[in-house]
Amino acid sequence: MKKLYLFANWKMYLDAAESEKLAREFEEISYPKRSKVVVFPSALVIEELVPIFKKTKISFGAQNTYWADKGAYSGEISAAMYRDVGCSYALVGHAERRHKFHESDEDTRLKMEAILKLKMTPVLCVGETEEERKNNKTEEVLERQLSVAYRGLVWPKGIELLIAYEPVWAIGTGESCSPTEAERVCSLVSGWTRKFLGVEPAILYGGSVAAENISDYVSQSHIQGVLVGGASAKKASWVSLIKKLS
Ligand code: PGA
Repeated sequence: MKKLYLFANWKMYLDAAESEKLAREFEEISYPKRSKVVVFPSALVIEELVPIFKKTKISFGAQNTYWADKGAYSGEISAAMYRDVGCSYALVGHAERRHKFHESDEDTRLKMEAILKLKMTPVLCVGETEEERKNNKTEEVLERQLSVAYRGLVWPKGIELLIAYEPVWAIGTGESCSPTEAERVCSLVSGWTRKFLGVEPAILYGGSVAAENISDYVSQSHIQGVLVGGASAKKASWVSLIKKLS
């Protein structure tokens, strides 16, 4: 049976006490057997959460990483530093990084390279803005984001190729992309990935995922999971979302 990826991006929603409380609540939930749960907490609390999740199969990830291991990069945290505290996953090119912090496609490429070198699993996030969609640029933007991020890479054996398709206009807005449209785009993403890298990816959908729509996404043939922001940062909404899958 195929894996089901349930990824929780806590963004900058929770302080240390709230993160610890939610981690304990996450740990008590029973997830469908085939699921792989990964939490992306704030960098400062990851070490505190390790003992809580230690006995579970829940993994951790970084919301963002820097590509150099060490150096004069004030304010940045390297992928190596995240790995050292127990992270095995890292988001790359999340829409908020691209659009609020002006990260370029080239930045995502450097991050992919650095993360793979450390044998961590990158989760490459791609997605078009509302304006790009309105101007019929969705396909062009996604193909460009993927081709630049993959440039020069030979995909290492043993590391899953994970992509999150997150239309920017659907993130945090309550205006989710219709499951059939998400499926159409994810099948294109899968095709481009096979063309550029010769590897079959697992694709997650993200953008206003909630209890009302999660089953419709994960039942699509090219969608193998979800990257959840807002609804993963509160116990009640996360629990009701997981219940839809059992
Ligand atoms: P959302 O965020 O679920 O709050 O829309 C998704 C994401 O940014 O990964």
